[in-house]
Formats: sequence, C-alpha cells, structure tokens
Amino acid sequence: MSKQVTCDPSLIEPTLDTYDGVPGSLIAILQATQEAYGYLPMNVMEHIAERTGTPIATIIGVATFYAQFRLEPVGKYLIMLCQGTACHVNGSELISAAICDELGIQSGQTTEDGLFSLEHVACLGCCSLSPVMMINGRTYGSLTPDKARKVIRTLAEQSKKEGEQA
Ligand code: FES
Repeated sequence: MSKQVTCDPSLIEPTLDTYDGVPGSLIAILQATQEAYGYLPMNVMEHIAERTGTPIATIIGVATFYAQFRLEPVGKYLIMLCQGTACHVNGSELISAAICDELGIQSGQTTEDGLFSLEHVACLGCCSLSPVMMINGRTYGSLTPDKARKVIRTLAEQSKKEGEQA
C-alpha cells in the first residue's frame, strides 16, 4: 500500500489559470492533474477546491466515480492484466492469482517498494494472444502463470541493476 504524499500544487497552476471561471471544466482539470502527477494527490485536489471554489466532496466524488482517475501513485511498472472475454476463457484468473501471489498485492494496489502496480483492465485489443498483459506499453501474450511470474522477476531484476548502476 502506498503512503499519502504531499505534492507541489504549483504544477497545476497553468491549468487552473486556463480554466479559471470556465464552467464544467472539473474533469479537464483532473485529467491535467493526473497527467502532471501520474495520479490525483489529495493535497492537490484540496488546492483545486480552493482555487475553483468547488467543494472538495464534489471533486472527490468525480475522482472516484470515473475509472480513469487514480487516487494513488502508480508503481514504476504498471501491469495491466486483461480480463476481457477471450483472456478470461483462456485463464486470465490463473494469471491474476499468480501475479497477486508473486507481488503480494491485489488489483488496484502498488507494491510497498513502489515497483509494481496491478490493474485489471478490459480487452486490450490483442485477443489472439490471450491471455495478455501489458506492462508500460509492452504486450506479453500467451501467458501462463509461470511465464507471468518470470516476466515480473526479470523486470524486478532489471530495475535492481539499473539502481546499482545509478
Ligand atoms: S480479451 Fe484480452 S486482449 Fe481481448
């Protein structure tokens, strides 16, 4: 589970200036916020509430209603595991169980070390490769539980090496 972090709200100032006084712009502001921070930090949502005069409860309501918005920071590797029909029929549940077991997290969560986030998603559009997952834009198809574990271990290893070289 990730901790609550305080982010510098000034990153979102240009967006708030652009939409100053524009009705119905909350979703656009939240989209720009997520683009800037990777998710919607609580202190930035409070800042948006203050600047736009929108009640914080309304902002949180919108942020939690739409699946596109994230309320927690995402890990270095975002695993998007397909749960569409073709993948489901071909064993995506077994892949999910293996990944959850390997990382000790559930869908929608991030590992303690901030390395991996897991998200169950709808069809990724490459059903012929099912079951499929996508990690940071790269597609891994014809998965088995073992193959999924191996991919994750390789990425963890790779990240460790990058850390040692830095
Ligand atoms: S159902 Fe998984 S890629 Fe289409």
